[in-house]
Amino acid sequence: MSGLKFNEDAARQLERVYLTTDVVAQRAETMKQLALSPGERVLDIGSGPGFLCESIAAAVGPTGAVTGIDISSDLIARCRSRNPPDFLSYAVGDATEIAEPDASFDVVVCTQVAEYVPDVDRVLAETFRVLKVGGRAVFVATDWDSVVWHSGKPDRMAAMMRSWESHCAHPHLPRSLPARFARAGFRLDGATVYSILNLQWHDDTYSKGLAALVRDFVARKNELPSEDPKEWYDEFARLSEAGQYFFSSNRYIFRASRPIP
Ligand SMILES: C[S@@+](CC[C@H](N)C(=O)[O-])C[C@H]1O[C@@H](n2cnc3c(N)ncnc32)[C@H](O)[C@@H]1O
Repeated sequence: MSGLKFNEDAARQLERVYLTTDVVAQRAETMKQLALSPGERVLDIGSGPGFLCESIAAAVGPTGAVTGIDISSDLIARCRSRNPPDFLSYAVGDATEIAEPDASFDVVVCTQVAEYVPDVDRVLAETFRVLKVGGRAVFVATDWDSVVWHSGKPDRMAAMMRSWESHCAHPHLPRSLPARFARAGFRLDGATVYSILNLQWHDDTYSKGLAALVRDFVARKNELPSEDPKEWYDEFARLSEAGQYFFSSNRYIFRASRPIP
């Protein structure tokens, strides 16, 4: 994986961001797109903090099964520490080499993970392999060009966001996903955009958590003037005080299925 490292510290930071109202609402939209039924077998690729797996487990119930895999052993350990029920299991695993038999899941979900994997086509091939015929996949990804983030210093903002792009392997993945799904053998069943909009700078927002990740990542890269990441971050509180804070970003949600031959 390029860029961002999902170690213990990052896991804690990720958990905080994923519990904000913005990201809870985004998970509810993902659940809607998944349209799960009791008894279904679901794989969550790159399950991260496990919050989506927990919602999925509530939807499929004990007659179903949920497996969350993630490359980060720190994140998997945190998921397991919440004592999941028997029908929700977690394993350290790689999206490009899924240790599951062919045709073993009704549904595969992958939210904001594929963009971190250099060989993203292999993730789609593995998703196709582990899905039953007629099974469905839901992929969620961000296009970082979709971010509108106001600053009194637009050049610095542009430089910060350019530097941040290297935190993942494919910062513009959504625009190529339809063609990638088709090449992997899927039928594309639908796509939609989910937007996050923040007009204030406060702890219960996605953008405040994101800003800390961006500031720290860009500071570590050390390619901009050393004061820029902190000053970029500090501007947001002042903008918010003045009623001028504005952040929006799009997540693209794709529904695809393994066609019946
Ligand atoms: C931005 S987080 C998304 C977490 C979760 N899917 C969610 O949306 O709540 C990205 C996750 O992808 C995982 N990841 C990155 N590369 C991976 C790979 N090759 N195989 C499995 N997981 C991977 C990371 O460890 C991290 O948990």
